[in-house]
Amino acid sequence: MVNTLDQVTIDLPPARILAVESSCDETAAAVVENGRIIHSNVVASQASLHAQFGGVFPEVASRQHIRTIYSVIDQALKKAHVSLSDMDAIAVTRGPGLPGSLVVGMNAAKGLAIASGLPLVGVNHLEAHLYSAWLYEAGVQPKMEVEFPLMALIVSGGHTELVFMEDHLKYQSLGTTLDDAAGEAFDKVARLLNLEYPGGPSIQKISEGADDEAFQFPRAWLEGSWNFSFSGLKTAVLRETQKIKASRRPLPVPEMAASFQMAVVDVLVEKTIKAADQFSAKHVLVAGGVSANRRLRQEFQTRSKLHVHIPALDLCTDNAAMAGAVGYQRFARGQNDSMDMDVLPNWPIAEL
Ligand code: KG4
Ligand code: ZN
Repeated sequence: MVNTLDQVTIDLPPARILAVESSCDETAAAVVENGRIIHSNVVASQASLHAQFGGVFPEVASRQHIRTIYSVIDQALKKAHVSLSDMDAIAVTRGPGLPGSLVVGMNAAKGLAIASGLPLVGVNHLEAHLYSAWLYEAGVQPKMEVEFPLMALIVSGGHTELVFMEDHLKYQSLGTTLDDAAGEAFDKVARLLNLEYPGGPSIQKISEGADDEAFQFPRAWLEGSWNFSFSGLKTAVLRETQKIKASRRPLPVPEMAASFQMAVVDVLVEKTIKAADQFSAKHVLVAGGVSANRRLRQEFQTRSKLHVHIPALDLCTDNAAMAGAVGYQRFARGQNDSMDMDVLPNWPIAEL
């Protein structure tokens, strides 16, 4: 391995982690040093396979993971110029996620751990999304260090979670979605507007330059609670499309997409900033696939008085480097798992 001078001080023992991630429809492996430095981060996306279904087809996902997982792991080791014997531990996503997908990564990681004698660490995929904020490419100094206490928003295809973090690995889940996840809402509305899967990037693209106040779509503020709800918004978009189609007018897709996107962004940004204020957070962190959204990134940066950490685009969507980052935090504190470890498809962030 090329030795990188880690300019960021760590108060835990150094370690190199091979990480494996297969919770949904990306097969991924990475080599991460000290939970922060990315030596490789290989992602084999299945998006084009699932596009024909308008969403992730679990059976197809798990078969595809089986086809690609070993070559993805090989590529991750090769790109980092290392072999298994250079590693200190193997981290693997244990949940939450699709059971049939999780099992493929888990079995591959267990096989490698048995063959190499390396310790195994199971990681929570939501924690992993948060830890993407600590990662950086070998040789690139992070612009600003993350400071605790922290208000964090995880927005992905399967989850919307507002989490208060007092310190490393200390989470207080404040709110979640009562119905659709933010990314799920993007995917479902994209389908209503005949846009390609995954819906988030399609909606972002077609919204560029369009009037985002053309439609007054509802915002579910759920005052007095830190929870979220997006199903009413999705239904409002559906009703509008039905109304326009009934009157035989063409669908103003860019304006509808932009107005929908703005309604989601408004709620996510305002509630997170309010929570950060009430909990006296020092910094804000936004992670998960939807944090790749340009409008969301812009609005967080302009509306928040606190520094907002949002990972680089390739670290927002599912990847294994983030599993390596949280795997390091656990391994360095002696929190290894046994070979009996099983996947936990509904694993909440603050448990175990
Ligand atoms: O974190 P992720 O890769 O997988 C899960 O853990 O779910 O998130 C995928 C989700 C999808 O719903 C996708 O539509 C959404 O993230 N997404 C976006 C953007 N890029 C991906 N949503 C809005 N804007 C984007 N640019
Ligand atoms: Zn994810």
